[in-house]
Formats: sequence, C-alpha cells, structure tokens
Amino acid sequence: MMPSLKDARKRSSKQVLIKDHAYKLTDIQKQLGVNKKFFIKTYGCQMNEHDSENIKAILEDMSFEQTDDYMNADLILLNTCSIRENANNKVFGFLGRIKNLKEKKPNLIIGLCGCMVQEEVVINKILDKYKWLDLVFGTHNIHELPQVLEKTIKDKTLQIEVMSIEGDIIENVPVKRDSKYKAWINIMYGCDKFCTYCIVPYTRGKQRSRKPEYILNEVKELIKEGYQEVTLLGQNVNAYGKDLNINYGLENLLEDVAKTKIPRIRFVTSHPWDFTDNMIKIIAKYDNIMPHIHLPLQSGSSEILKKMGRRYTKEQYIDLFTKIKQAMPYSSITTDIIVGFPNETEEDFKETLDVVEKCKFDSAFTFIFSKREGTPAAKMEDKISIDEKNKRLQKLNTLVNKYSKLANDSYLNKVVPVLIEGYSEKNNQYLMGYTDTMKLVNVKGNVTDIGKIVNVKITDVKTWSMDGEVVE
Ligand code: 5AD
Ligand code: SF4
Repeated sequence: MMPSLKDARKRSSKQVLIKDHAYKLTDIQKQLGVNKKFFIKTYGCQMNEHDSENIKAILEDMSFEQTDDYMNADLILLNTCSIRENANNKVFGFLGRIKNLKEKKPNLIIGLCGCMVQEEVVINKILDKYKWLDLVFGTHNIHELPQVLEKTIKDKTLQIEVMSIEGDIIENVPVKRDSKYKAWINIMYGCDKFCTYCIVPYTRGKQRSRKPEYILNEVKELIKEGYQEVTLLGQNVNAYGKDLNINYGLENLLEDVAKTKIPRIRFVTSHPWDFTDNMIKIIAKYDNIMPHIHLPLQSGSSEILKKMGRRYTKEQYIDLFTKIKQAMPYSSITTDIIVGFPNETEEDFKETLDVVEKCKFDSAFTFIFSKREGTPAAKMEDKISIDEKNKRLQKLNTLVNKYSKLANDSYLNKVVPVLIEGYSEKNNQYLMGYTDTMKLVNVKGNVTDIGKIVNVKITDVKTWSMDGEVVE
C-alpha cells in the first residue's frame, strides 16, 4: 500500500477504533530473527523515540537481538522524521553510506519507517532511486511489522506498507523502554491543527486520544516497575480528550496521573490555543507535575501567526506566558521559534525578538522555515533570501542564548532536585540528570544515586547545562 497526500489531508467523522488484538505473531514470525541482529537509528521527536521502543520490542518478540553497530546487523532500520527538509537529507545521506553493505552481505535487510515515508514524494524517490531498499512501513503500520518483514524475507523484493488513513488506536503493541527510570506515554496520536507550515497532520493522521483508563493503567504498571518519571506525549497535548466526547481533558488527566503518586510528571507539546486557566491551576497545585512547560511561540508577529494558522496573537501569547509565570514563578518555560516564514518582514522578525526580550525563555529551539510539500505554506510566495534568513537565525540565537545563560545563572549555589539517569556521555566521571524544571545537570555523586531523585547543589552554570554535587 502506498501513501497519498490527498488521503492524508482528509478528516472525517469516522469513528476511531480501539484495537486490543491487532498486534499478533505467528509461530514462524516468532522465530524469524533467531541468531540475527537488528540496528535501529531514530531521528526526530520523542514520539519517534517512543515508536522505536515499540519497534524494538516487536523485533525482540521475533527473536532478533539488538546491536549498536550497524556493520554487524542483519537488519538495519531507520525511523525517520520529516519535520524539515534537513531531516530527510540526513536519512538519504545515511542510506548513501550504507548501500555498499548490501553488496558484501546479500541477506542484509535495510528498511525505513516513520514520518518521512508517509510522504508521497519520498516514496516516489525511493521507487526511482532507492529500489535496493527492502522494506518501508508507515506510522500507522508499526504493529504489522512481523507480517511485512516475513514477506520481505520470503519474497526478497521491496515491500512498501504505508497507509494514508486517519488512523485507529492499537493498544496491544509491546514496548521495550530505553530507560528504567523515565518513560514516555502516548496520550494521543495525530494532530488536527493544520498549522500551515507543518507536515505532522499528514504524517500522523487525525487527533486520536487514548482513553484515560489505558493511560492510567500504564502509569500504575510503571510505578510497580519502579519508574520515577512519566512524560505524557502528544503533538498537541492541551487538546487531549476533545475527540473522546466524555468531557475529560488534559487537566483531568494530569490530576488523575498526579494522584497515582508517580514522583514526576511531564507533558509535551503544549499549544497556546488550548491552554486553559484550569490547566494552569492543576499544574501549579500538584508537586509531582513538573514546573516546566514547553510552549511553542513559532513567531512573535501576529501577522505571521495568522498566516501560520496558529490562532493566537502576540499579545495572547504573552498573556498566557504571564499567567503561567504568575501561578508558578519558579517554573521554566521553553519554546520553539521559526524564522523566515514566507515573506516574513524585518518588522515581523523584530516582533519575534521583542517577545524573546519580554519572556526571557529558559531555552528555545530555533529553526529556519522549511518548505514541506503538500502544506499550504509551501505554496506561499517568498521573497526573503536564505542569506537574510540565516542572519535572522544568528541574531535570534544570540538573544536566546543570552537568556538561557541568565536563567541558568539564577540556579548558582541553589539546591535543586535532580533525577539521576546514569553516567554523563561526555565525561564519565560525572553522573547526569534533569532538574524538575528540565535543566541538564552534570553531577558529582555516587553510583547508588542512579535512578533516584536527589538534592543537588549547583556549583557552575553554562548556557546549556550546569554542574553540581549531591548534598544530603
Ligand atoms: N519549518 C521549520 N520548522 C518547523 N517546525 C515544524 N514545521 C516546520 C517547518 N516546516 C518546527 C516548529 C515545531 C518544531 C517541532 O519544529 O517550531 O514546534
Ligand atoms: Fe516527530 Fe513530527 Fe518529526 Fe514525525 S515529523 S518524527 S511527529 S517531529
């Protein structure tokens, strides 16, 4: 099955099906990976990271073993992202590097999955130039991996299973989590906001919220397993529940999850449009809901925001920001900003800088607008040169970094709670973890601190991280 842009755009009132038994394996499929190794590389957001945790569990159900060395693998899977052109280029670059492996190892299987393969243009490119690939499966087909892989092995021809559907909810896909202490939990899939620059509503289907009881059961299981932190995931979590028609929204879910007493609850990503006063109240009320909010601004110009289809103005964003800070002065607020949206004027850009000056974000991910085929913004006239866009990005980054450092400075000599996740990758003399406000800290401590929330005194601060030591 192939993806279709026309179908991906559709939204109907078709009922979302909850499928508890859609994932199943035959005895043959359970043995397909015996003595074989798989390598998986994940691009993109937390949603994709979590999908990879599902894929790993499926492959282990099929008796494959994971390897970190792709030269050693019998199956190489790239779980792709399509948010910007750059993400696509990285994947094609990697494919270019590994193509020759197939000549040395004729039985090697190389496959693509994730958002990129939901794009019609990508599939056409694969059929034109990457016919040597073995399998391609879409974001709606993860639970069918055993069947697709079996066919690939049997037929030795390229298998493409990508559906452009609004989507159902598959509840029985297994998961093998990367961490023993913090876990991702999908609370909803897809997105119906259709911001004009964004490809996600096409690659991930319509908004489908998971029923609260499934989410709460997952949290309770994780508590039993000793997990300290859950992150509730969705493209637009503030709209959680709207499609369930049971008068139950993010504020209710947050409150119910908080009552399970899991030590830390996070949620991403928020959209300012659906952020209610009641949600702010609940986040402020419970100590185990972490005081960090990722609140994408995208642009500070009301004119550009309108063209982006964001449905808030500069002033409304600042109002919401102020309300959150008033309710939780200690909280950190981070953001995403796009520069160079089609025909963004110097004045528009200055409005963005002005919001950054006013909000002084704890940190921000900044991007140059990237044309995504099929989205409305891709068709908009754009007279701004890439040179100009680069200059704006530099200027924005300088300002954003100044405020990140300033925000971090306020932590110096303070004692903050940090969930210690393990050793720092950069310097294994240090442990690493995140504060309640989502600041990365390299920590001098003991191996016995791993997996625990400990008090850390901050001894040094940089722009993107801090150093500290465990205190009693
Ligand atoms: N071009 C540039 N940035 C984009 N984002 C989403 N779509 C695009 C695009 N077409 C950014 C937004 C979003 C983040 C995940 O990626 O800022 O919040
Ligand atoms: Fe995640 Fe969006 Fe990238 Fe898909 S396109 S992996 S949903 S960021």
